[in-house]
Order: sequence, then structure tokens, then C-alpha cells
Amino acid sequence: LFAGQVEFLKGVVAMDGLPPADRAEVCFAGRSNVGKSSLINALTGQNRLARASNTPGRTQEINYFVLGPEHYLVDLPGYGFAEAPKPVVEKWQRLLKAYLAGRQTLRRAFVLIDARHGAKKVDEEIMTLLDGAAVTFQVVMTKVDKTRGRALEDSLARTREALARHPAAFPEIVLTSSEKGEGLETLRAIVADL
Ligand code: GTP
Ligand code: MG
Repeated sequence: LFAGQVEFLKGVVAMDGLPPADRAEVCFAGRSNVGKSSLINALTGQNRLARASNTPGRTQEINYFVLGPEHYLVDLPGYGFAEAPKPVVEKWQRLLKAYLAGRQTLRRAFVLIDARHGAKKVDEEIMTLLDGAAVTFQVVMTKVDKTRGRALEDSLARTREALARHPAAFPEIVLTSSEKGEGLETLRAIVADL
């Protein structure tokens, strides 16, 4: 599935701009700066496909990428703190929530969580929204190259505790590093299986 070229389709700023719901899709959600765009680049092996940056709030549209003949990959704007004017942030957060709760063809939402921090309150708010919409979600820990040992165990334990409170959660957590390539093969296989 990831062997061919993945192409950018469009950036969406309102629900009526979504492409026709005629393909299965998976999306990457998470707090601003958690590494959503970087993960899409790492998964596809195309480093300039999605724009990543050190500034939280880099991705401000719902970005669609065409994966193989019948799937979309979707890069989402972040939630939580972002370096952008408040009305702008509020607009994309409304769009993000409408998308997560209302996209018929969304097969699975990957909820990215920084391996150093574990699930936070805002992550659980998104998980609750996904529960309500009956969208299966799976946690992907990002930036595992930045932590290990006890700290990683603690953040995993906190995240597992959070997942136990959410019926739409898929129990397996995937550990990844876009920087070092860890976990990418596992995640590609999960997407391909969907
Ligand atoms: P927004 O679009 O602002 O919501 O952010 P995002 O979640 O798309 O994050 P992005 O991919 O832009 O990455 C944010 C920062 O984290 C960048 O400086 C990346 O280089 C860095 N980063 C992402 N993944 C990793 C990783 O696995 N390891 C390390 N060390 N840094 C990473
Ligand atoms: Mg981004």
C-alpha cells in the first residue's frame, strides 16, 4: 500500500470542502506539535509531503493525501495550544471536531501522543468525542527517541489507564519515532490491514 507515490490531494477548510466520501480513510489527530505531519512523511518515505515545523499550529487545514487506488491519509490540524490567533485556532478546532464526529468513511483515527507526556486531558476530550461518534481510535506514541526506561513506562501506564475509560479505543499502542524510523513498519501494516 505504501510502495507507490503518495500524492497531496487538497487542503480542506470547511466540511463542505471534503472530497466525496467514496474511499476509506485514516486520519492522524493529536495535540499541536505532537508529530502528525512528520509521521505521515516518515510512513510514506516522502519527506516534504506534509509540512512539519517546530511551531505548534503549523497544519491549519485538513490535508488529504491519496494512498493507493482506494484510500486517503488525512493530516489534521492539532488541538490544544497553538501559535496562531485565537479565532483562527477556534475555527480549525471546530472543523476538526466536526470531521472526527461526522466523517462516514473514517475507518480509524490514530490519536498521537508524545511518548514523554502520555495522554493529557485534551487527548481524553478527543477520545470522548470519538467514543460518541463510534470511531475506533488507536494511540500512537510519537518521539520515542526522546525518552526511554522509567519515564516511557510511566507515560505508557498513564495512557493505558486513559484508554480503559474509552470504549472506542483499540487496545494496542504503537510506539514510533519518525526521526529514527521505529514502529513505522508496524503502523504501515496496521493501515494496510484496515
Ligand atoms: P501541528 O501541525 O502544528 O499540529 O504539528 P504536528 O503534530 O504536525 O507536528 P510536526 O510533524 O510538525 O512536528 C513537530 C516537531 O516535532 C517538529 O520539529 C518535528 O521535527 C518534531 N518531531 C516529529 N516527530 C519526531 C520524532 O519522532 N522524534 C523527534 N525527535 N522529533 C520529532
Ligand atoms: Mg502538522
